[in-house]
Amino acid sequence: MSGMATPELSGRVALVIGAGSIAPGIGIGRAICLTLAREGAHVVAADNDLAAAQVTCDMVAEAGGSAETSEVDVLDDASVEALVARVIDRHGRLDILHCNVGLGKSGPSEVTSAADWRRISDANLTSLHVASQAAIPTMRAQGAGVITITSSIAGIRYPGFPHLAYSATKAAASHFATALAVELAPDNIRVNSIVAGLIDTPRIGVTLAKSYGDRDEAQMRAARDASCPMGRMGSAWDIAEAALFLASDRAGYITGTSLVVDGGLSATVRQPAAV
Ligand SMILES: NC(=O)c1ccc[n+]([C@@H]2O[C@H](COP(=O)([O-])OP(=O)(O)OC[C@H]3O[C@@H](n4cnc5c(N)ncnc54)[C@H](O)[C@@H]3O)[C@@H](O)[C@H]2O)c1
Repeated sequence: MSGMATPELSGRVALVIGAGSIAPGIGIGRAICLTLAREGAHVVAADNDLAAAQVTCDMVAEAGGSAETSEVDVLDDASVEALVARVIDRHGRLDILHCNVGLGKSGPSEVTSAADWRRISDANLTSLHVASQAAIPTMRAQGAGVITITSSIAGIRYPGFPHLAYSATKAAASHFATALAVELAPDNIRVNSIVAGLIDTPRIGVTLAKSYGDRDEAQMRAARDASCPMGRMGSAWDIAEAALFLASDRAGYITGTSLVVDGGLSATVRQPAAV
């Protein structure tokens, strides 16, 4: 053997939905785009915040990768269908679909209205179905495809504060992947979810500000670090490496799985006195 290895996603087209970050920095979708592009995939960075998706694309380009932005609102079925159709029209294929948007509403369940519930459910669950349904015929015709969902530890454990609609829909998102995986296994389309633990992304400073009592943002981050067995939250890169693995041929016999990436958090019985 001689020379450099070919990047493992060379020639593949990856669509990442939720490819920006709701605050400056490295969100999970952004890290996934950068990581898939690093391995040679052409990445379509889709988001309802085009400026945030553009930041992702600029970072990919700066790192020597290939990416483009596309606008989508996962709360609008037609917008999701049009996004997938655009990608397929433009590139003639779709190898990797990664659904990464996650909405929630912190606070006791009584403050979550039915309308909130539907919005969260549409984003975290219905959009997975709509996007997959649009992608499957092309993946089937290709004889291969990968669908990956960013799920959450909140879907398998109480996250430490009330987050009911988020928790319930993330649980369903993981099971969506499991059930769809069996249906699509004969077509060589693999479907998995990543159960992300407590991850240190820019988002937590925005969405979890009030979920950790009276603590300020630095104290909230410190509390999250301390509650993890490894003494730190995960990073967006930890999730992105799992996404890359699941998208790659190295995971060619892995489907229907929820890959837990949580630094051991869900394996523990943590007691406040011990934290
Ligand atoms: N940060 C954590 O601790 C953590 C833990 C477990 C799971 N997750 C999950 O990881 C994923 C990414 O989280 P993040 O922390 O990077 O958050 P983030 O909110 O910064 O990233 C999500 C992206 O989705 C986009 N988005 C929001 N609404 C949209 C819509 N209607 N249509 C299209 N795009 C939309 C946002 O603009 C943003 O770029 C989410 O699914 C989240 O639930 C995060």
